[in-house]
Amino acid sequence: MTNSTTGAIEGPRPARPQELPEIIDLLNKWIRVARGNEPTIARDWGFIYSPANAENVMIMTAGGRIVASTGIWANDVRLGSAQLRVGGINCVLTDPEYRHHGLGMRVMNACHERMIELGCHLGLLGTRIPNWYRRLGWEYAGVSRTYELNRGNIEFLPELPAGLTAEGAGLEAVDEIVALREAFPLGGIRTSETFCALLTARKLSEFFVVRQNGQVAAYLLPSATHIYEWAGPPALVAGLIRAWFDRVDDRSVSTSTRREERIPLCLERATLSAPAAAISPLTYLLDGLHMPGSIDYIGMIRLLDPRGIFEAFGRHDVRVQMDEETITVARGRRSVTLNLCQAAKLVFGPEAIADGEIDLKPVPLCQWSLEHV
Ligand SMILES: CC(C)(COP(=O)(O)OP(=O)(O)OC[C@H]1O[C@@H](n2cnc3c(N)ncnc32)[C@H](O)[C@@H]1OP(=O)(O)O)[C@@H](O)C(=O)NCCC(=O)NCCS
Repeated sequence: MTNSTTGAIEGPRPARPQELPEIIDLLNKWIRVARGNEPTIARDWGFIYSPANAENVMIMTAGGRIVASTGIWANDVRLGSAQLRVGGINCVLTDPEYRHHGLGMRVMNACHERMIELGCHLGLLGTRIPNWYRRLGWEYAGVSRTYELNRGNIEFLPELPAGLTAEGAGLEAVDEIVALREAFPLGGIRTSETFCALLTARKLSEFFVVRQNGQVAAYLLPSATHIYEWAGPPALVAGLIRAWFDRVDDRSVSTSTRREERIPLCLERATLSAPAAAISPLTYLLDGLHMPGSIDYIGMIRLLDPRGIFEAFGRHDVRVQMDEETITVARGRRSVTLNLCQAAKLVFGPEAIADGEIDLKPVPLCQWSLEHV
């Protein structure tokens, strides 16, 4: 495609550091301001649109002007003894003037290649236009749990051991929490700097922690009614959840009064995110207590290195053959050939995609919502 007024279309190619301000302006214009929001891309996603990550932002230009962009953020996640590299996809955008000419798909295909170069095992994204991504091999997959907490069930959780008290903590606790997350590895690997950048993107800055011998022994990252993430020994985290609920649930508030806009004045329910039980002892504990909850997908997934995924989990009995359109997975004498979308579910669940054809349990995946870009 060429346009007489704007010049030849070029790319896709990685961005240069000096192009980042133009990319941020483009994203702010169409993803923030045009939707009635503040131009916050630099604050929200500064770690993606930074000089160090510029070569992981794929762009196309028209007459030298940037008209399409997609950011990649590679994040290593720990899942029990396994570790996978997840390529998060951020701010997929084509300037409205240039839409419906295949630029978006070309940029995404370039992102797939770049993520493979980066050693990513899978790509992960959240979207409101899933069918557009399905054509590019993406599909909803992976298991994320959400538990319900309320006055009627919170007391089933164990209390914190006598002598331990829960307390709020601010960003000064980040180094200690990073060390705790290292001791209880689940989800994305973070430095203190990355952690602070992720918190800034979500406008979060308050933790709830319990200390033992002066050190943070368990933590929660809560908003008003939801616990985004946590780490620590499961019984201690459960006790901390109970202590947090008791703190935010003000029982002196009238329970029959509502504001006109129907917002309840007291806490009616809170929720907690958790990964699948196979890699999360807290999930196992909550399931053992029959705490109610729901299952959702982690997001849309694009398999990039399925063989590497099975190897990371020590599943050397699984053989994988991949071409452009299909993946053949074999175990023993049985095998199944699937398209990329179906294969994402075969690998990460939750749907039992080829149950009758091959005896293969999905592998667990955890990326906390803070790490979703
Ligand atoms: C989503 C978005 C990035 C797509 O960009 P794009 O450059 O128009 O993408 P494509 O041209 O590859 O695909 C768009 C459509 O054009 C069609 N198309 C592709 N090449 C075409 C061509 N040469 N002629 C006509 N149509 C074409 C595609 O099949 C697709 O059809 P669909 O709308 O039925 O799905 C763009 O609409 C956008 O920026 N939206 C706002 C931001 C957004 O929602 N981003 C996604 C958030 S996760």
